[in-house]
Amino acid sequence: MIETMYKEKVDLTRVPQHIAVIMDGNGRWAKERGMKRQEGHVAGTQALNDILKPVRDLGIKYLTVYAFSTENWNRPEEEVNALMALLYEKLDVNKFMENDVRFRVIGDIGRLPKIVQDVVNNCLEQTSNNTSGTLTVALSYSSKWELVEATKKIARRVQEGKLNVEDINDKTINESLNASFLPDPELLIRTGGEFRLSNYLLWQCAYSELYFTDTYWPDFDEEELCKAIWFYQQRERRFGKTSEQVIESTKEQQVNK
Ligand code: FPP
Repeated sequence: MIETMYKEKVDLTRVPQHIAVIMDGNGRWAKERGMKRQEGHVAGTQALNDILKPVRDLGIKYLTVYAFSTENWNRPEEEVNALMALLYEKLDVNKFMENDVRFRVIGDIGRLPKIVQDVVNNCLEQTSNNTSGTLTVALSYSSKWELVEATKKIARRVQEGKLNVEDINDKTINESLNASFLPDPELLIRTGGEFRLSNYLLWQCAYSELYFTDTYWPDFDEEELCKAIWFYQQRERRFGKTSEQVIESTKEQQVNK
């Protein structure tokens, strides 16, 4: 029996507009092949470049990937340096142009080596008019860092008399986040077999569907992506409501179309 590929199963009318990814498993992928951990990151970078086209073809507007967390600064110096070198060498502006992808970053970019900051800024500038999709790379990023920075911004506005404490709401916080330009992800994918969020987009993922796979990031390809989307499409997104309410409002939306 020939199994249907997930690529054929995906409903192209209900693809998430924003997918966030924790690209885990590079180190183990390399170790299992008798390679250095750094070589796993090289393979992971290739996987990221290769997924850009399927992401575009599927009509996913935003892809946000966790490339380097605040906590990753604590890894052995050799690995941190290798990751920085990789960013310097492999942030591929041509690949972004080829796929009409706008490149963005979130995170404490000021902590990156100056030469990496220059490459990042170059990619930001050169891709700023691309419109097919947005690739956001989280670099020196953590949710707690982002929320602390947002809190400081809001506190300053209160201190300056520009904002009343009573007027602070979800929108105030959204607008103050480093990732304020992103819609909330409908789907978060974590590769590499771990079941945690690792300080990634915690505010934004409040109602995201979570998908975990054992596949290591360097092996994550178009078919794996379609499988994740297919699983997402099987879920009922209730946002705190009952199943009956969701069915009713879907019917109403169809009538009003
Ligand atoms: C987690 O795997 C992965 C990382 C800490 C780095 C991910 C970075 C890339 C894929 C490079 C991105 C490149 C560009 C140009 C944006 P791990 O090392 O924790 O794997 P393990 O859990 O198997 O040890």
